[in-house]
Amino acid sequence: MNSDFSLSLAPFQGITDMVYRNCYKKHFAGIDKYYTPFFCGIQKDHAKNLQTEEIDPRCNDIHTLTPQILSNDATEILRFAEQCQQMGYREINLNLGCPFPRVANKKRGCGLLPYPAKVQGLMDTVFQHIDIAFSVKCRLGYFSPDEIFPLVDIFNTYPISELIVHPRIGKQLYKGNADVERFKHLIPNIKAPLVYNGDIVSIDSFLQIGDAVRPVSAFMLGRGLLANPFLAEQIKGMDGGDKQSRLLAFVAELYEERLCRTGGSPKVLGRMKELWSYLSNAFDDPQAIWRKVRKINDLKEYEATIPIVFRDRKLEV
Ligand SMILES: Cc1cc2nc3c(=O)[nH]c(=O)nc-3n(C[C@H](O)[C@H](O)[C@H](O)COP(=O)(O)O)c2cc1C
Repeated sequence: MNSDFSLSLAPFQGITDMVYRNCYKKHFAGIDKYYTPFFCGIQKDHAKNLQTEEIDPRCNDIHTLTPQILSNDATEILRFAEQCQQMGYREINLNLGCPFPRVANKKRGCGLLPYPAKVQGLMDTVFQHIDIAFSVKCRLGYFSPDEIFPLVDIFNTYPISELIVHPRIGKQLYKGNADVERFKHLIPNIKAPLVYNGDIVSIDSFLQIGDAVRPVSAFMLGRGLLANPFLAEQIKGMDGGDKQSRLLAFVAELYEERLCRTGGSPKVLGRMKELWSYLSNAFDDPQAIWRKVRKINDLKEYEATIPIVFRDRKLEV
């Protein structure tokens, strides 16, 4: 694998919000591009949920952040695109990957993938009017991995700025393995710049997948990076310093920042626990750590527990 590749951070609803992204950037290197977790319900021109720090250009780097929308409605997507453009963003991303039944059953996220005519109608209207780069993040299908084939022809009709493919089907949720073989077959058939996403959890898995999907040179890191925030640096050969103290500084600042922005809300505990469900895997005994963190009841207990985790457990990344 040559070093001419780019790495992005996958969006995670409830985890990789503006606070996480900015704190991550301050403590770690290696990520070239970020995506917001999906927005939805853009009902008006001055949508309330777009008047937040999550997308405010004063709190985000508009040059490296792409806002994402979950929608099957071209008018809503165009409304979102226009508001993002007014804020200075250069690209939006459409989520055709979310697998959760309450989303997919409404033909949103990857629930739209079995309906190529609907995808085509959506793309037709969007591309007639959109004035900003438009990228798509999708799976191989919802019920079957063959659903992608008619979609490839549709995607190829439009100047999609980037097609991110997570090679699972929706019904799998996040179980089983990403189907790298099937992804490989798509490579020669897709005109848009292709991004691979799925199961990159280590330098080894990156090298293996990178080799298999050559010449694809853009990779999106997901749970692997949540579990090991050094992953992008390691892949790019730029990691260094005392990892234990670097990670502790990151986690501590993320916690403080969340507390500060919410006026000390107890909800911060849920946020931190969700991150720890991944982060515990960076240590020598993930199960023990996760058992400990999962049963924390309040912020005080969290504050007492985390330094003990860092004192007693060893990082294994
Ligand atoms: C809790 C959770 C929230 C997610 N939120 C989003 C989201 O808002 N938008 C999106 O495109 N994908 C979302 N994803 C999917 C991830 O971005 C990524 O595609 C997926 O984890 C596969 O990559 P990985 O195998 O590297 O983790 C989410 C996944 C999880 C587990």
